[in-house]
Formats: sequence, structure tokens, C-alpha cells
Amino acid sequence: MPIESISRSRDPVAVPVLVAPSILSADFGRLAEEIRAATDAGADWIHVDVMDGHFVPNLTIGPAVVRAARKATSLPLDVHLMVSDPDRYVDEFAAAGADILSIHVEACSNLHRTIHRIHDLGKRAGVVLNPATSEEAVRYILGSVDVVLVMSVDPGFGGQTFLADVLPKLRALRSMIDASGRPIDLEIDGGIAPGTAGSAVAAGARVLVAGSAIFGHSDYRQAIDGLRRETSRAVVGEP
Ligand code: DX5
Ligand code: ZN
Repeated sequence: MPIESISRSRDPVAVPVLVAPSILSADFGRLAEEIRAATDAGADWIHVDVMDGHFVPNLTIGPAVVRAARKATSLPLDVHLMVSDPDRYVDEFAAAGADILSIHVEACSNLHRTIHRIHDLGKRAGVVLNPATSEEAVRYILGSVDVVLVMSVDPGFGGQTFLADVLPKLRALRSMIDASGRPIDLEIDGGIAPGTAGSAVAAGARVLVAGSAIFGHSDYRQAIDGLRRETSRAVVGEP
């Protein structure tokens, strides 16, 4: 086969993908047990959705619950702050045991300052983009961040439908991150399930947040393995 055809071949390429179950869909009455079950089922990170009833129309988790989650697992706690003034809260969530603190660009007017504060606290720093926010919002912060999280639903609730409109944005971010040469994790959150996970990975995502697809499944290991299986078949770079 000529070299050109080989390089253009569309054979599936296995890429390492991390799975981060979102505890928003867990049974809060048995939260520690649920986190342990997700850990034992092969999760890579535990995703924690913090909502303030202002930036998003829902109220969820505060630092006390993050402290409890910290005791239930040794996996990285990936704390997604959906709050209006993240500067007020990063210190408290860092002290509670977060490993990654991600803030929305739509909620933060001085991104560099907040990202550097998170680093000063000894944590990995992420920036989050709502579905309608352009990738350009993070172009000039890529030199500082560790994670870029793309929302594939408007944030606020679990169990919503994946917005395929964000796939071109994932592709653009994949190119920007690769060009930066920095080890930035590109994460996708919202409506990830068998049927959507593959397209997100093909477009460049490498960390999959999934709430209802894992905690709504009767067998968490099967759910996580199902996501990994689908993404191992994804054709990376396929439009
Ligand atoms: C939505 C949250 C998500 C949510 C995902 O605002 O940020 O992390 O838990 O839930 P699913 O996977 O059910 O869409
Ligand atoms: Zn989230």
C-alpha cells in the first residue's frame, strides 16, 4: 500500500481515555459507598459538581461533601465549580481535598489570577467552557492551565442530551493543545454515554465525565468498560 494511503487510513486508533464518574447522579444518601463502588469499578477520577444556584439554576455540593468524598477514595477529585465568583471558594475547596479545580471562563473576570491562585494552593487548574462559548476564550491561558473542560450540555443538571454542536470546538481545542506542547487534559462533560463518547474522543476529548450513564447503570464496571470499549473503536480525527 502506498505510504500516502496508509497515513490516510481510517483504521481505529486506540488512545488513552480517562473516565470520571460524576457523583451528581449518585445516591447521595450512600455517597461514600457510591464513590467506593465507582473507584472499584475502574474510574480514573471522581467528578464533583459544585453548583451555587446563581451561575446555574441548581444547588448541590459544598466543601463539607468534598471532605467526605476525599475520605472515600484515593482517586483524584475533579471539582467542577459552577459558581458565580470562584475566587471566593477556591481556597476552601482546595483545603477540603480537591485535586483539580476547574472554573468557568464565563464566571471569572481575571482568569490568570485565579488559575495562579489554584496553583499556589498546590492544585491542578482547569478552565471550563459552556456550549455557546468559543474556544478563543482560552487561547491566551493555555500556557497556564492543566485541564480544559468542554461542556456538551448547558450546566446545571445531569441526564441532559449531548449537544453535538460542540464537536468542532473540541477539534479546534485539540489542535490548540497539541500546538502548545503542554500536557493539558481535554475533558468533556454532559450527555456522555455509549453513542456519544466515541464522537467526543474522535474529536479530541481524552477525559470523559459521565453521570447518569454510570450511576444510572445497574453495573458500574460494565458502564465504565462500555465507554472505554466504544472509545477504543473511535477513529481519531474523524470529522
Ligand atoms: C452538568 C454537570 C455534569 C453532569 C453530567 O451540569 O456538570 O457533570 O453531572 O451528567 P450526565 O453525564 O448525566 O449528563
Ligand atoms: Zn460537571
